[in-house]
Amino acid sequence: MSPFLLTRTLPVDATDAALRADVLHGLTRRPKTLPPKWFYDAHGSDLFEEITRLPEYYPTRAEREILIDRAEEIARASGALTLVELGSGSSEKTRHLLDALPALHSYVPVDVSESALRGAAEALLAQRPGLSVHALIADFTGSLQLPDTPGPRLVAFLGGTIGNLLPEERSTFLRSVRSLLSPGDALLLGTDLVKEEKVLVDAYDDAAGVTAEFDKNVLSVVNRELGADFDPADFDHVARWDPEQEWVEMRLRAREPLTVKIPALDLVVSFGAGEELRTEVSAKFRKEGVKAELAASGLRMDHWWTDSAGRFALSLSTAA
Ligand code: SAH
Ligand code: AVI
Repeated sequence: MSPFLLTRTLPVDATDAALRADVLHGLTRRPKTLPPKWFYDAHGSDLFEEITRLPEYYPTRAEREILIDRAEEIARASGALTLVELGSGSSEKTRHLLDALPALHSYVPVDVSESALRGAAEALLAQRPGLSVHALIADFTGSLQLPDTPGPRLVAFLGGTIGNLLPEERSTFLRSVRSLLSPGDALLLGTDLVKEEKVLVDAYDDAAGVTAEFDKNVLSVVNRELGADFDPADFDHVARWDPEQEWVEMRLRAREPLTVKIPALDLVVSFGAGEELRTEVSAKFRKEGVKAELAASGLRMDHWWTDSAGRFALSLSTAA
């Protein structure tokens, strides 16, 4: 089995400047917010995997259906020798693409979660021993330095994770993805689609409470890394559909008035009873919107595929 290469572009310790800046900025404004990337320590990554298996959480199953149906077509259209995957997590669905790309030289998973990258690389190499796996611990919203591997490159961004970026962040992100593409390279983008409110809200507020635990995990991350004293039991998990923005919001709502000490920031944060902290948006899309956002970033949508129930879409784009 070939060893895999793990390159770190983020500091080892999550008490890095980015977490401090995000917590300081997010908890001293109204409404209070935290960026969703801080969900994903090892426990958060495991909880996300559990979410993907919940009956209410349809996006993973819907996207897998499309990948199974279209992997050969995607492989033919891209002719990729390198597959770069942003926010790759467990890389579980990616196997369908890898199977359709027997001549692939390199797989470059990019994620903030080291535990997810290690687990994915180990599992993949057991199945595909000859593949060169160059994992990058990196924030995909920053400027990415990709390893020098053979093209054409297929850059995959699956799961609907683009919906976790705010509209302005999305356009900056898509422009930076565009700048990574050489002629002949392509972007494979997974987008969850607008649908009935109850289906959407249930997907983010499951009966077993796994999403609530995932949501509260961000408090445990801040406790561990910044010495804060959040008690997750003081908060209720809230999932709400915003029909204007067309996104689901996850929030943590304080049950009672409370204060939280964050020693690493020398900060005390107060919450009023019922005050909410927004931890994630998960935007849902329509075909025309995705096409327009891609076009505004210099990308042309060449293919659009949905699952049989029309819940989720994969699109393949190239530089315009
Ligand atoms: N693509 C997988 C995982 C989706 S979960 C799937 O479709 O199932 C989102 C993944 O993106 C997590 O593994 C998380 O650690 C990663 N992630 C979230 N924000 C990130 C960021 N800013 N930079 C890099 N990775 C990020
Ligand atoms: C990673 N991302 C696309 C997930 C989503 O559906 O927005 C994260 C998630 N949040 C709650 N459940 C799953």
